[in-house]
Amino acid sequence: MQTHKSKIIAAVKEHGTPSYIYDGEKLVSNYQRLVNALPDCVDVFYALKVNPNVSLVKLLRSKGACTEVCSITEMEIALKAGSTPQDIVYLGPCKKDYELKRAISLGVFAIVIESETELKRVSRFANEAGVVVDVAIRINPDFSAKGSPWKMGGRPTQFGIDEKHAIANFGTYLNVPNINIKGIHVYNGTNILDAQSVYENSKYILGLYEQISQKYNTTFSMVDVGGGMGIPYFPNQEELDIVEFKNLMTPLFSDFHKKYPDTRIIMESGRFIIGTAGYFAVGVNNIKINHGKTFVVTDGGTNCHSASAGSGRVVKRNFPMENISATDNLEEFEYQVAGPLCSPDDIIGRNIKLKEVKEGDILVINASGAYGSTSSPGLFHSHGFPVEALVYDDQVHLIRHKDTSDDIISRQVVVDFKKEPVLN
Ligand SMILES: Cc1ncc(COP(=O)(O)O)c(C=O)c1O
Repeated sequence: MQTHKSKIIAAVKEHGTPSYIYDGEKLVSNYQRLVNALPDCVDVFYALKVNPNVSLVKLLRSKGACTEVCSITEMEIALKAGSTPQDIVYLGPCKKDYELKRAISLGVFAIVIESETELKRVSRFANEAGVVVDVAIRINPDFSAKGSPWKMGGRPTQFGIDEKHAIANFGTYLNVPNINIKGIHVYNGTNILDAQSVYENSKYILGLYEQISQKYNTTFSMVDVGGGMGIPYFPNQEELDIVEFKNLMTPLFSDFHKKYPDTRIIMESGRFIIGTAGYFAVGVNNIKINHGKTFVVTDGGTNCHSASAGSGRVVKRNFPMENISATDNLEEFEYQVAGPLCSPDDIIGRNIKLKEVKEGDILVINASGAYGSTSSPGLFHSHGFPVEALVYDDQVHLIRHKDTSDDIISRQVVVDFKKEPVLN
């Protein structure tokens, strides 16, 4: 049985740094922990925005995960990973015409509609294609999920249709030509660590379903309550209590299912499933003292893992980091861990205590599986995105090549000027 440390060491040995390394067994067990905490009537949809690597999605798919996608590329990745269209929901505030047309031709389980104009557009495309399209209406509720650092609903956002307006106008949605309204979708927040808060949020959304059902004297074939289950990053945070979660969610969903047995209940999750299964490894390139502080300069920083540098957060706090090259007997010192960018903000560890760091050591940021490369400025300094490896079943699998200079340069176009610029 390999430990997470031996898995990281094996992957770094083969693929170097900076690198994202995933623990396949942990990924599967996180997914199963969530599935086991929910009754059978709930389907878990893995959100590709969190980490879209095709091999990771394939592994999750092999255990039964469905997929939630927000772009044509995520849609193609989900298919390549083995998802059937009927196990895909497609959403997002800016769906392009060609993306909608692809989703329509595939026949995904539901296109989640974010506005009334989008509903009209989908209706027009469906009419042109001579089909009826399954959609869900995304509602931005008058309810906000407690404990979520980023709120997508319950306040003015670009997502969904306002609750009161949607309820008042649902009857008109039901009559839009070439459209089959399958149900409703709400996604309110992310990284919620309090089971009670996820429960209250889900309960509110099931209540919305009932309200609309009763008002329009109909039932629907889906309700997507989103999710937002989180993971701890900082010392004062505690894991989501999965037993409490199970005890709250089981009766809630089971009772709903008894009442509406033909309604597919969907929960979306990304961070909870993959966050703690991913590690970001960097190599120490240089150590220096500057104005009294010790800087450890590494080969990967904000450009690869901007979340760990605290981007988007007012208060910057350190992700859990360790020096995996250090032996147990070494003393701890305080460091500023920097990445390779010419930006003073490129700090992935501030005043952080680590076992004595030496040049060539490997530092690892834990809890890095979610929103790593996907939310980082990978082209800063043209470094490109790093290599990714999956350690599963005692094997190291390369799952993403690192970007090379050629990869980056070949996307650029050299203009053939009529009059060549004069070189001085
Ligand atoms: C619509 C939607 N679904 C799923 C997710 C994934 O959320 P999480 O990483 O909290 O599981 C998000 C995150 O922003 C989202 O906006």
